[in-house]
Amino acid sequence: MKNATKFWAIVPAAGVGKRMQADRPKQYLPLTGKTVLEQTLNRLLQADVFSAIAVAISKEDPYWPELECSIHEKVITASGGKERADSVLSALKSLRKQASDDDWVLVHDAARPCITSTDIHFLIKSLNNDDIGGILALSSHDTLKNVDGIKITETIDRSIIWRALTPQMFRYGMLKHALEAAEGNPAVTDEASALEMQGLQPKIVEGRPDNIKITRPEDLALAQFYMEQQK
Ligand code: C5P
Repeated sequence: MKNATKFWAIVPAAGVGKRMQADRPKQYLPLTGKTVLEQTLNRLLQADVFSAIAVAISKEDPYWPELECSIHEKVITASGGKERADSVLSALKSLRKQASDDDWVLVHDAARPCITSTDIHFLIKSLNNDDIGGILALSSHDTLKNVDGIKITETIDRSIIWRALTPQMFRYGMLKHALEAAEGNPAVTDEASALEMQGLQPKIVEGRPDNIKITRPEDLALAQFYMEQQK
């Protein structure tokens, strides 16, 4: 008898976050009493669907072993890579003995601590019977422009433009194959782009706008506000 499909989470957390101009990587900055990374992992654990969460951590990272969640029974530490895609591939490989090719993997940025169980469950419900998988995404409310330097060259039809968020949900085997085939390609800035390069068409699932990525200093205050609103 075939084993039931499992769900695994992967959290790339090996970035340095230069745009934060802080004394430590952004995933270790404080956010409502914990670090950003702890908040993110707590949210994934609360969703109560994952068999384990593989977290990709940079080799020179002194902060991770200090966190209680680094020894949580459902958390596996993997080594980070040069680019985000390398970190995700390394985390996938750390699950190789436990995961089956047909299992689902949800890759979620460490820097998105406002992810809700509602969004995770909605993504899973929307894609569970899909052949390829897909991503949470947001439509654009602003008018979008193509520019050359500072000169506008054209206005883009925003009805066909979506902003890619995470989690991004794909089958273990298909995602590993796509990331291995795309290794070293700088155009792979998310998991979906690796599958697109295989000629596949991942789906979009509309996510919540409060699932922001901490990128600049002011995003921490915004994340705090959203987390309070979500209570
Ligand atoms: O820099 P950016 O915000 O796009 O990073 C997205 C996520 O990828 C972050 O959680 C970051 O820690 C992670 N990352 C990684 N390994 C890298 C670069 C980024 O795990 N080499």
